[in-house]
Parts: sequence; C-alpha cells; structure tokens
Amino acid sequence: MWSGRFSQPNTDLVLRYGESVSYDWKLYEHDIAGSIAHARAQRNAGMLTDEEFEAIRSGLLGILADIQAGNFSWKMQLEDVHMNIESELTRRIGSPGAKLHTARSRNDQVATDTRLYCRAQIDATLELLRDMQRALLLKAEEYAEVRIPGYTHLQRAQPVTIAHHLLAYVEMLGRDTERLSDCRRRVNVSPLGSGAIAGSTINLDRAAIAAELGFDTVTENSMDAIADRDYIMETLFCLSLIGTHLSRLSEDLVLWSSAEFGFCTLSDAHTTGSSLMPQKKNPDVCELTRGKSGRLYGNLVSVMVAVKGLPLTYNRDLQEDKEPLFDSFETISLALRVNAEMVAGMRINPDRCADAVSDPLLLATDLADYLVRRGVPFRHAHELVGKAVAIAVSTGTPLSRLTLEQFQAISPEYGADVHSVFNLDRAFALRTNPGAPNPDNTTRRLNYWKQKLS
Ligand code: ARG
Repeated sequence: MWSGRFSQPNTDLVLRYGESVSYDWKLYEHDIAGSIAHARAQRNAGMLTDEEFEAIRSGLLGILADIQAGNFSWKMQLEDVHMNIESELTRRIGSPGAKLHTARSRNDQVATDTRLYCRAQIDATLELLRDMQRALLLKAEEYAEVRIPGYTHLQRAQPVTIAHHLLAYVEMLGRDTERLSDCRRRVNVSPLGSGAIAGSTINLDRAAIAAELGFDTVTENSMDAIADRDYIMETLFCLSLIGTHLSRLSEDLVLWSSAEFGFCTLSDAHTTGSSLMPQKKNPDVCELTRGKSGRLYGNLVSVMVAVKGLPLTYNRDLQEDKEPLFDSFETISLALRVNAEMVAGMRINPDRCADAVSDPLLLATDLADYLVRRGVPFRHAHELVGKAVAIAVSTGTPLSRLTLEQFQAISPEYGADVHSVFNLDRAFALRTNPGAPNPDNTTRRLNYWKQKLS
C-alpha cells in the first residue's frame, strides 16, 4: 500500500493479521466529521482553495451517504476505516483528496475518531441509564407499600420495602450516571493536530477544529495525546460498574422469582422454557445479564493489559482497543434496554412478600432497641434478646408469642408493653433518619428521582 519505501507487498497473512476495517468501519461517521473539520482548517490556513475544500467536503458527504445506504465496499487491503475512506475520496475527486492528510497522521486521527465515538455512545448510554432508572422507579412506586425482609448473608435481617430495595438500584445507576458524565469531560478533548507524535510544521487552527467537532478543548501534549487510551479504559470501567449493578439486580430477581421466595413474577415475554421440563420458567435475561458482566470486565482488563507495557507513543498494540470498546457499549446498551423492559413487565406478589415479612425474628433488633430505650446498654440488650430468640427457636414458638412471663424470666428489664415491639407499622415509623426505609423518606426519594428523571 505504501509507495516509495517498500519493494514487496505485505503477505496475505500479514494483511489479515493487521486489518482493522472489519470492525473499525463503525467509526466512519466520526472519521468523516473529523476529516471535514480538518479540511476546513486547511482551507482557512490557505492550504486548500475554496473549490478544493468543497470537493473534499462533498466527496466525503457522498461517501457517508453511500456507507449509510450500504453501498460502500470496504477493502481489507486498505487496512482500516481511515485508509478506506481517504483512498475512496481520492478515487472520486482526484488530487484534492490527496491533500487531505496534510498535517495529520492516522495516530491523531484514530484518537479523534475513538473519542468522538466514545462521546456519542456515552450520551446514548446516559439516556438508557435514565430509562432503566425510570422503569425501577415506576415499579418502586407501584409497590411502595409492599414490605419484604431485607437480607444480609442472604439470611432474613430486617424489614424493608420493595420500594426501598428497588430505589437502592436507582441510586446505583444515579452514581453510574455521574461517573459517566464526569468521564465524558476527559473523553471530550481534541487530539487532532498532534500528528504522528510531535505535531506538524504546518500549523492548523486546532481550537477551531476542536470547536467544529464539539470538543471542549484540545490536548496539551502531542505525545500524551497519541499514546493516551485512558479515556477508553475509564469508559470501560464505567460500563463495567453498570454491568456490576445490573448483575446484582439480576441475582436479586433470580431469587425473588424462584418458588422459594416468590416475591415477583417475571413476564412470559422475559423468561424462557425448558426443552425438557414442561413446568420451567427460567429467568434467562437475568442470568445473561449476570454472565455478561464477565465480558465487560474482560474488555476492561484486555485494554489495560494491552496498554500497560507500551513505551510512548503509538504502538500498533493500541489497535486492540477497539473491539473491547465496541463490544462493551453494545453489551451494556442491550443489557440496559432489555432490563428496563423486563422490570416494567415484572409483577410483585404482595401475599408472598407479606408472608415472608411477618417473621417476627426480623424485629429482634427492634426488641434490643426497646430494651436500650429502657436503659439497658446495647451489648447487654443484644444478649437478652438472643436468649429470647433461643427459647423461641428451641420451643418452636414465634418470638412475638413468648409470654410476658417468659420474657421476664430472662430479664425484668422486659416490660409489660414488650409485645408492642412486634408491629411492622411501628418498626417503619421509628426509622426516621435519612436513608432508612421510613415511608416518608421513601416518598421523598421517589419524588426526588421522579423530578430528576422527568
Ligand atoms: N488502525 C490503526 C489503529 O487502530 C490506526 C492507526 C494506525 N497508525 C499507525 N501508525 N499504523 O490503531
């Protein structure tokens, strides 16, 4: 492909080994936008006539239209998206096309393209995060009153509500949104003009190019700009963490939809049957989401490993950044969409929830707090309640059904009103501190998110 220096073409295997156009063609839109901005700067610097610029611009727009219409044939021999588009441009418009690459290298070009790609995909992901939050919020609102046990160690711990549980995920996705928005600031910086490594003797207006492409600013060190893939790793980390949150939600829903829990029913449209067992209704969407978190982490790790040993600046290893990046965005986009749909179609089963949350052991800590209010130091109260629990368990009596005599045989600190503790309304009403599942808190947080997501 390169005229001049070489006396032998690459072998077929080398071409196949090195080509990236089979996947980096996805950057075409950004590559063309970058080239138009770059050409405009060349014209403004007097390097291109108005006519030459116009030929380049309309030539590139023609190529864009053809690609979008599926009428463009990508050539592996031309290696990557950049070379494919540039060589087709020159084929179409002749000599102005051959001027386009002045003061530019594929090194700053590819960094520009992937930054623009990241930015567009981040914006789309931010929208999908909102949709997912909305789906959770609507479900939380629909079943705001339904109480369930909260779990630690997957053992019943203390009473919470469906709303409080689902809102926990809304908070997580809220942090994901902030993290991705913050990452976007570092993504949105223009490397164009950094050339291959050390800028160019031909100085184009970098700020104007950046502004045309919607970048906030320009990179300040040409070597850093060419070598840097932090914005990709950071993005992949943000996507990995979204995947983690969706994976944890998946695990909750796998449990909730089991016969053992029965807290929720996933819709037929979001579950699958078994080829053998006619009764089965499997939560495959949840399981796939849980499984796909692994590939999100894999993508992050593969780029980090590819970058860590590289001397400055560009090394061809960096070409390996693209497939993981594309895959993570495609994975997370589908995951957010299908999960939002699944959550919207999910039904909560209030009877099963009520049954589970009626377990008086969930209020053992409240009983200890009751003793604390009567002046017993917490550690001692914990022990006195532990004794009551032991009697309840060994005699097969619900904790709430121990008699006053039984309680007082453990300690006279138990008062005549001890049974008043076993009341869920009381348990929720007393938890007034911010963050606790008090109904007023829940309403406040539901309203906060409703407003924020509207
Ligand atoms: N396809 C290449 C990549 O993705 C573009 C940059 C090529 N630069 C080079 N000096 N070979 O990294």
